[in-house]
Amino acid sequence: MKVLVIGSGGRENALIWKISQSKLVKKIYAIPGNPGVSGLAITKDINPSNIIEIADFAKAEGIDLTIVGPELPLALGIVDTFNSKNLKIFGPTQKASIIESSKAFSKEFMKKNDIPTAAFETFRSAINAINYLKKAKFPLVIKADGLASGKGVFICENLNEAQDAIKKTMLENKFGKSGEMVVIEEFISGPEMSFIVISDGKRVIPLVSSMDYKKIYENDEGPNSGGMGAISPSPHIDKEKFNFIMEKIIYPTIKGMKQVGREFRGVLYAGLILDESGPKVLEFNARFGDPETQAILLRLKSDIIPILEGSADSNLFDVSVEWDSRVSACVVLASKGYPGKFEKDKLINGLERAKLAEVEIFHAGTKQKEDGVYTDGGRVLNICAKGKDLKEAMGSIYDSISFLSFENIYFRQDIGRSK
Ligand code: GLY
Repeated sequence: MKVLVIGSGGRENALIWKISQSKLVKKIYAIPGNPGVSGLAITKDINPSNIIEIADFAKAEGIDLTIVGPELPLALGIVDTFNSKNLKIFGPTQKASIIESSKAFSKEFMKKNDIPTAAFETFRSAINAINYLKKAKFPLVIKADGLASGKGVFICENLNEAQDAIKKTMLENKFGKSGEMVVIEEFISGPEMSFIVISDGKRVIPLVSSMDYKKIYENDEGPNSGGMGAISPSPHIDKEKFNFIMEKIIYPTIKGMKQVGREFRGVLYAGLILDESGPKVLEFNARFGDPETQAILLRLKSDIIPILEGSADSNLFDVSVEWDSRVSACVVLASKGYPGKFEKDKLINGLERAKLAEVEIFHAGTKQKEDGVYTDGGRVLNICAKGKDLKEAMGSIYDSISFLSFENIYFRQDIGRSK
């Protein structure tokens, strides 16, 4: 079969790497892809938001299955467009991907379905939000309702910070329409984990648990990034928590979405926080996590295609999944300055020597030039490995990193250690 993967990050490179191992797949295409997929996929430079052009491409090439990496094409309705043209696609419809694209929807949905989450209020008016904040207890969290590339969440310690967040979001429209509404919620502290499942609308296949390292600096300090590393499994999961998450969070979500006419097929990613009363949902995403997917896919022993196709076909009934019992990890090499301003276009040295037997290197923000691979984004490369324990996996990863260099390279040296 012919498979198309949409997206250009490390997550999509890892998906293509895994798909390339499937005996069912003859040809892989990537839109737009990155230099890490060369030799595995044919790349086509179309903007992932240009849904009609992508659907025309899929039709013309006779693509049998399309897999969507990032959230924006899902929120724009790529699955609906593909369905209307009888093209098979893995991912939720626009109506279902609202679980990620509207935080107000997602929080109201959790409230109605008794899914554990922080207490919250929703506001459409800046004045009402500020009046509420004047009487609120701090710290608290302010979230822009819509998609904001991970930048729309503010943890506010006092009224000044909160007013500033409202100003940026609702008055200065820093996130465009995404900031027309905000959710203000109780601040909860505790370890976080990512619990990702694949659903066909009724049935669910849980992937192995994982945890990403969101903060840019070591010891979990500094601003949030898209993720500076990941490990799998999460050190915070046990059988009891697994059962709780499935029974109280995942199944009620899949069932509740179907009940409101938003049947959820695709990846449901629950970002969880574990406080003293148990796991609570911080947010839902309707796509694979990045960089969690890189760590998770290293442990997937089964062919990924029947899982993705089973979800798209509403038939995960006969699909069974085997996992490697070893642990895995991923460290992100970034451009210094990310998630703020950073420079691009720096030659990456050592890529060949860094390819150690036990290591997978996935590309994120890179570009191929005549004389080599150059940096082209904040998150540049993902260095991933498995091991009998985290010490072994991290040893392989940091050995590989010792061969890599580019101007302004930055990475966390405590992945797998801090919690
Ligand atoms: N690693 C966080 C995310 O994918 O949203």
